[in-house]
Amino acid sequence: MKTQRVLTGITTSGTPHLGNYVGAIRPTVRASRLANVESFYFLADYHALIKTGGDPARVQRSTLEIAATWLACGLDPEKVTFYRQSDIPEIPELTWMLTCVTGKGLLNRAHAYKAAVDKNTEAGTEPDDGVSAGLFMYPVLMGADILMFNAHQVPVGRDQIQHIEMARDMASSFNHLYGEHFTLPEAAIEDHVATLPGLDGRKMSKSYDNTIPLFVPKEQLRKLIMGIVTDSRAPGEPKSTEGSALFQLYQAFASTEETADLAKAYANGIAWGEAKQMLFERLDREIAPMREVYDELIKDPARIEKTLKMGAAKARAIATPFTQRLRQAVGLRPLDMEAGNAKPTAKAAKASLPVFKQYREADGLFYFKLTDSKGAVLLQSKGFAVPREAAQAMARLQQEGSIALDDLAPQLIAPKDVQGVTQALAQLRQAAA
Ligand code: TRP
Repeated sequence: MKTQRVLTGITTSGTPHLGNYVGAIRPTVRASRLANVESFYFLADYHALIKTGGDPARVQRSTLEIAATWLACGLDPEKVTFYRQSDIPEIPELTWMLTCVTGKGLLNRAHAYKAAVDKNTEAGTEPDDGVSAGLFMYPVLMGADILMFNAHQVPVGRDQIQHIEMARDMASSFNHLYGEHFTLPEAAIEDHVATLPGLDGRKMSKSYDNTIPLFVPKEQLRKLIMGIVTDSRAPGEPKSTEGSALFQLYQAFASTEETADLAKAYANGIAWGEAKQMLFERLDREIAPMREVYDELIKDPARIEKTLKMGAAKARAIATPFTQRLRQAVGLRPLDMEAGNAKPTAKAAKASLPVFKQYREADGLFYFKLTDSKGAVLLQSKGFAVPREAAQAMARLQQEGSIALDDLAPQLIAPKDVQGVTQALAQLRQAAA
């Protein structure tokens, strides 16, 4: 299987809570340990400025807490790329390039922006009252986060799915205009636990002020859990698991059998106090060992800073050359560079294009190759038994561009210059458009 790139970020505007842990941190840390994945985790501190305007201390504190959280939750910064968004200047640069290919209408439809407008409309104020351009542009910055590293999978909560769809949209628009540079990302949702209820039964969220912080001291955790809303059924009365915040929280941490046992206890009329105690114990069993590491890390910010700087160097080893390629693609080029996009005559244009050639070898098999305009081989296929298969593979590369390279890898000899192949395929597609 081809290596999958998994990427996710957490906005550094608060203290990590159980919802963040279950919805993003835990599944991503687990996925990072699999073979065949390359993981990117980052602290979305540029995003934090949108929500925390005027509270710099909170941004800094939250960045520290979130970094410590991920490390305490088992993230291995040697294996994964763990960085802070604002350490990567290429991200705001890409944000601008994407801004220029993103329809304003697309952004008008973003849930968060629409919600703000609806609220104003209801209140009878100007539609954009109190809405910063930062809030409006939020999805583009997020698109840049994802597309910069050509992530395949983006583990996020359900509320973020639209943002991933928008990132796909931006990637397609850019690819259409400038050639195949971006992978189209997909949201990865852990279905049964994607959103956790908070203390009041609504979705656990900073904005509802109903969260259970992941690393509060044990006693405080117990107190918070005792405060979860339940209905007024007395001990001995059967209870419904449906719509029970307590039950859903338990389920997110417990095994299938443990969950089935609690469901039985509900039917048998377990007292709410007892059910809460079970939840507390189950949660603390998973959290306690991580809490110990967290408390140590928080005391040593310099160590975390060093880890993040190392991560930034790793991330920029990808982002810097990739941004160079994108600059080149959009026309932000040194003036003494040959103008690839100046419209040549049709004949000259054709002569300067890469070409696909299909042929048969002495071994009786059918092959194809892609050469540049001067005849140098960029890409070479392996042998096909029938010509139609060779033709189909070739057609896919022509139509889909470098995105098809992954799928076709078994039929191809791994190219030495992937970037050259990508550019050549993009050039062919442009010429065909
Ligand atoms: N918007 C995400 C959230 O609020 C955080 C985020 C920013 C993100 N950039 C991202 C998540 C890129 C995934 C990928 O949770």
